[in-house]
Amino acid sequence: MVYCYLAFINGYYGHFITIYAHWIWRSVYSYFPALSFYNASYRELKRLSSLSKSPLLSHISETSHGLDTIRAYGLQSQFEALLLPKIDLCNQSHLLMVHAQFWFNLRLKLLGCLLVLALILLGVNGLLNSSIVGFAVTIGLQLNEELNTFLMNLGLFEANMVAVERLSAYIKIPSEAPAICPIDSSLPNWPCLGTIEFRNVYMSYPRNPERLILKNVSFVIKAGEKVGIVGRTGSGKSSMMDTLFRIVEPRSGAILIDGQDISQLGLSKLRESIEMIPQVAILFSGTIQSNLDPQNKHTAQEIWDVLEKVGLRQFVAGLQDQLDSVVENGGQNFSAGQRQLLLFAGVLLKKAKLVVLDEASSSVDVESDRLIQICLQKEFSGITVLCVAHRLDMIAGFDKILGLNQGILEEFDTPANLLAQTNSIFKQLVDATGPDNAVYLHKLATVSNQ
Ligand SMILES: Nc1ncnc2c1ncn2[C@@H]1O[C@H](COP(=O)(O)OP(=O)(O)OP(=O)(O)O)[C@@H](O)[C@H]1O
Ligand SMILES: [Mg+2]
Repeated sequence: MVYCYLAFINGYYGHFITIYAHWIWRSVYSYFPALSFYNASYRELKRLSSLSKSPLLSHISETSHGLDTIRAYGLQSQFEALLLPKIDLCNQSHLLMVHAQFWFNLRLKLLGCLLVLALILLGVNGLLNSSIVGFAVTIGLQLNEELNTFLMNLGLFEANMVAVERLSAYIKIPSEAPAICPIDSSLPNWPCLGTIEFRNVYMSYPRNPERLILKNVSFVIKAGEKVGIVGRTGSGKSSMMDTLFRIVEPRSGAILIDGQDISQLGLSKLRESIEMIPQVAILFSGTIQSNLDPQNKHTAQEIWDVLEKVGLRQFVAGLQDQLDSVVENGGQNFSAGQRQLLLFAGVLLKKAKLVVLDEASSSVDVESDRLIQICLQKEFSGITVLCVAHRLDMIAGFDKILGLNQGILEEFDTPANLLAQTNSIFKQLVDATGPDNAVYLHKLATVSNQ
């Protein structure tokens, strides 16, 4: 149609235009089936490539973070064995993408060549003026190249839109509750006591909503009480902490801190009000001072005082830059024990009312462990402490022990009372540590009861 129309209105000079229009029309028309086939395949291959790249990248990142541990345990070959199939999978889809590009490129070039050949044959047979044919072939070859680039880029554009598709899928992932709620501003000093109440809390993880992890858990922890949480592995200890921080929302029931239902608070308010000392203590890059007092609210004297309390004053005073000593990424230039003691110092500095420890002393040396125990007993008076512990000497002297069994709260009493029962979870765990250690733990429990 376009060809006929242009031929009609342009006369002799329009002959050039007519030939170009014909050229473009023919090219696009003949490219179309190959283009739609290539685009559909290339897009899916790109999707596969993106999907296979994620596990590879996360494996590399996890391995590089845990390099010391992997080398220490001589597990290089095991990690290599996990890595190679991931590289293969990623390369397979990438290789197919490159092949698809070659396939399409080859067809584009062949089609272009066929069209040039057809023009030349028209010229040779005298059907077209040879000067016009020469001119058309020169321009046509250039045009062919441009068209190829355009179509290849069109394919690339469509394939790369897969990234946008993945981003929009991430955007649709249900997000957490709001970080700030109107009620937050009406509770400036919350929590001022540190009482915790769980009221008939049921909890399950969103991935498996049918499987209840916490089942009808109810207890009250008074202000300033130190509570150790025990239970076999998988009994729901860490999950209970997750609900306290609202990392996972309870299915039903309520959690109250100082009488305030935490489900009505903004997540920022809740999470900044509870101090958490994780199993693997991580510090931020900066200085000792910036880690202990990120908002610069305290004097140097106050910082030295808390360092004294956790037994780190001498160590920090011995460093060349003292409070300005550099803390490398994650706190790698400090031992695990020192990192945890620094976190303890931060808690004391903030005068937090609620502290959660998840097996906080499991990775520290004996001396740091001793310092942590002293610090907990002496300096944390008036602070409510919830401690998930496998090492029972840490919690045997606490005020209360909370025993979980498959998500059910089976016991909540003083260590001495639980040790007096024959079948309590705590007693079973204590007895399992061996007769000598059990005697020591009994002593700790009795002393704390007096
Ligand atoms: N993110 C999660 N998604 C789904 N299920 C989970 C998740 N985290 C834990 N679980 C399941 O919840 C149950 C309780 O796990 P949890 O980590 O709370 O146990 P735990 O008492 O802390 O164990 P451990 O002493 O080994 O740390 C386990 O059966 C576990 O499989
Ligand atoms: Mg746990």
